[in-house]
Amino acid sequence: MSMKKVALVTGANRGIGLETVRQLAAQGVTALLGARNEKRGTEAADKLKAEGLDVQFLRLDLNDTTSLDNAAKFISDKFGRLDILVNNAGVALDFTIPASQGTPEQWRRTFETNVFNLISLTQKLLPLIKKSEAGRIVNLSSGLGSLTLNSDPNSTFAGIAGSTVAYDASKAALNMFTIHLAAELKDTPIKVNSGDPGWVKTDMGGQDAPLEVTEGAKTSVWLATLPEDGPTGGFFHLGKSHPW
Ligand SMILES: NC(=O)c1ccc[n+]([C@@H]2O[C@H](COP(=O)([O-])OP(=O)(O)OC[C@H]3O[C@@H](n4cnc5c(N)ncnc54)[C@H](OP(=O)(O)O)[C@@H]3O)[C@@H](O)[C@H]2O)c1
Repeated sequence: MSMKKVALVTGANRGIGLETVRQLAAQGVTALLGARNEKRGTEAADKLKAEGLDVQFLRLDLNDTTSLDNAAKFISDKFGRLDILVNNAGVALDFTIPASQGTPEQWRRTFETNVFNLISLTQKLLPLIKKSEAGRIVNLSSGLGSLTLNSDPNSTFAGIAGSTVAYDASKAALNMFTIHLAAELKDTPIKVNSGDPGWVKTDMGGQDAPLEVTEGAKTSVWLATLPEDGPTGGFFHLGKSHPW
């Protein structure tokens, strides 16, 4: 069995996920670059390999159950365990649609990727994460998923509350999954946390975002490599606790 840590990052062909793979691999982790599109995933992995990093493409489409089963089997056969799972893949389908107009279909599609299938993947990989000496699960949430910030009229989030409701709610639901899974696993070495990357320049974040991806991946990488005495069941941005 390889002594290097093995990490899987979902939605890693671009954006924060890609940079998370780069930073984890730069720390000596074997990083599996999860991507739903074979061409985009292979190209992204090849670029990082050319930088001398230990990165492998792994096909993974959250909305394709077979690909999740295949990914779990690949990791089991090849490594026999998984040390780090970064649930990074996510969609924002409704940034301009107010709460009064969002359709159940938009809510459903958002929740399929950001919540239901993320949970399914995590459950499929959990037996492998339990085989790690120090399993770490990182769920990419958002400040937009904070009920406290959304409902605070003095918060910068207050103005946009209501225009991103299905996305925000999906991240709030994900936060609840974090809390429950962490509590269930509290007597194991596994740590489960939600991370808010901040507002980051990516296809999703747009070009007005203040943070570059190097900064945006830091929260994920920190939570993925927490020491034994690190937190579990929390919600963090760049090392600081976020209100739920
Ligand atoms: N950027 C921000 O400001 C910000 C702020 C707070 C939280 N976040 C969260 O951080 C995470 C990464 O965001 P980002 O800005 O890097 O987003 P992004 O640039 O839009 O990239 C999203 C990634 O997720 C993948 N993905 C989407 N649906 C998928 C599916 N069904 N199966 C597998 N992969 C899928 C995409 O793959 P394709 O290339 O194939 O589409 C892509 O690789 C997300 O969970 C997001 O909600 C971002």
